[in-house]
Amino acid sequence: IKQITVSTLQDAYREKEKIAVLTCYDATFATVLEEAGVDILLVGDSLGNVIQGQSSTLPVTLNEMVYHVQCVARGVSNAFILADMSFGTFQVSPQQAFSNAVQLMAAGAQMVKIEGGRHMAATIEFLTQRGIPVCAHIGLAPQSVHQLGGYKIQGKTPDSARQLREDALLLQDAGAAMLVMELIPAILGEEITRSLAIPTIGIGAGAACSGQVLVLHDMLGLTCGRPPRFVRNFMQGADSIQTAVENYVAAVKSGEFPAHEHIF
Ligand code: KIV
Ligand code: NA
Repeated sequence: IKQITVSTLQDAYREKEKIAVLTCYDATFATVLEEAGVDILLVGDSLGNVIQGQSSTLPVTLNEMVYHVQCVARGVSNAFILADMSFGTFQVSPQQAFSNAVQLMAAGAQMVKIEGGRHMAATIEFLTQRGIPVCAHIGLAPQSVHQLGGYKIQGKTPDSARQLREDALLLQDAGAAMLVMELIPAILGEEITRSLAIPTIGIGAGAACSGQVLVLHDMLGLTCGRPPRFVRNFMQGADSIQTAVENYVAAVKSGEFPAHEHIF
């Protein structure tokens, strides 16, 4: 398996090869995902929900993120590790964000992800100018759930759609190497993807994104309760977790996932 780096991701993007991303929180799954051809393992703060049983991502600490990045890093040799900066670890100042991002990078991350729009541009610029690649994250920002009033689709009005389009460009200009877009109309996901020169990774953001991400437990059919609309259970028709993950990678690469029933 070839080593995946920011350069190989940029190559895939230029060649219009779709990027397959899944969340991952431990070494065993990391090995499975790498062998199945997942390009990026996201150590997401969704671990608050799926590993810790919390009702939001807000309680997740930096030390918990560091621990899970270390676990995932021990399980892989070539895959790319993207780590979330958890709530409260980056909002205070670019300096605070840098010293906390350092801990995630030292634990084995190759890029950190920061939720938020244009107000995070200065922080993204500060980190990228100092050697830390950053993935921005717009649309539904789960760390802002109490401000948003729930896990709702974003960018539905012309005004909020315009703001998201502007945010995407400002974050790219600030140096973001990649952009996650969560829970926005497919048409907006497509417009933003076309307007940028960096890869977009969608979750409930339509099929036109440069890549897709799902929470591992969701795509394995392990969601407690009803899964969100954008999820597909890849265990259906698969005889092992390895096969389910391989089928996910194939479906993302071919453009078969997401289908119209998964988008807004
Ligand atoms: O934490 C997470 O799993 C994420 C993805 C949903 C993008 O941020
Ligand atoms: Na996250």
